[in-house]
Amino acid sequence: MSNNPSHIAIIMDGNGRWAQAQGKNRTYGHEKGSEVVRTITTYCAKNPEIDRLTLYAFSTENWKRPKLEVEFLMKLLQKYLKQELPTYLDGNIRFQPIGDLSAFSDSLQNTIREVQEATQHCTGLIQSLALNYGGRDEIIRAAVALQASQTPISLDLISQTLDCAIDVDLLIRTGGDHRLSNFMLWQSAYAELFFTDTLWPEFTTDELDQIIHKFKKVERRFGGLN
Ligand code: FPP
Repeated sequence: MSNNPSHIAIIMDGNGRWAQAQGKNRTYGHEKGSEVVRTITTYCAKNPEIDRLTLYAFSTENWKRPKLEVEFLMKLLQKYLKQELPTYLDGNIRFQPIGDLSAFSDSLQNTIREVQEATQHCTGLIQSLALNYGGRDEIIRAAVALQASQTPISLDLISQTLDCAIDVDLLIRTGGDHRLSNFMLWQSAYAELFFTDTLWPEFTTDELDQIIHKFKKVERRFGGLN
């Protein structure tokens, strides 16, 4: 572990408020938010210090939203993955979803699998979209998988059994709230947390750069003294 922002995780909040502030439907904010996903991903792919970018795209709790909004998000996700395959390939970006994908339609699961397979040879940035993801759900699924095994439980074994085995270095939340909302609970044990009032559709590469700059100045002690 070092002061490199090797693994950045982002809670992309504020799409709905951004759209409503301009008198538009919340879904317009998600559409704009998906463009920011592309911009930020492409930018991170060009920074050799960043190995992994994990984005909270749909939580296990997001199913509680109105049916039309959930349907819109599912369609947007499928459109995004199909449309952005060239972006992944051109940027040498590997797509690696996390979360319980079994809840999605066969068609969406197929698209997710296709993009995952088509980019598995890519050696640059690993972009993980957290899809039907919840930190507690991830830990429960890992515990169930380990229940039958004879292997002694260890930190490494639990990490390796989770959807993502890699610790988060820098966790960013946009949209003004100061909470983790069930995101990367295990992996964020020693993450530096940055909260910004900027709504996700207005989040820019400049602001990301400023956050990375501040992150690099933080002394990370991981429970030790220096
Ligand atoms: C939070 O905004 C955002 C989400 C529900 C998930 C993030 C979704 C996107 C960025 C768009 C789709 C992504 C991809 C990859 C296609 P909110 O609706 O909670 O905003 P609010 O707090 O203002 O209501």
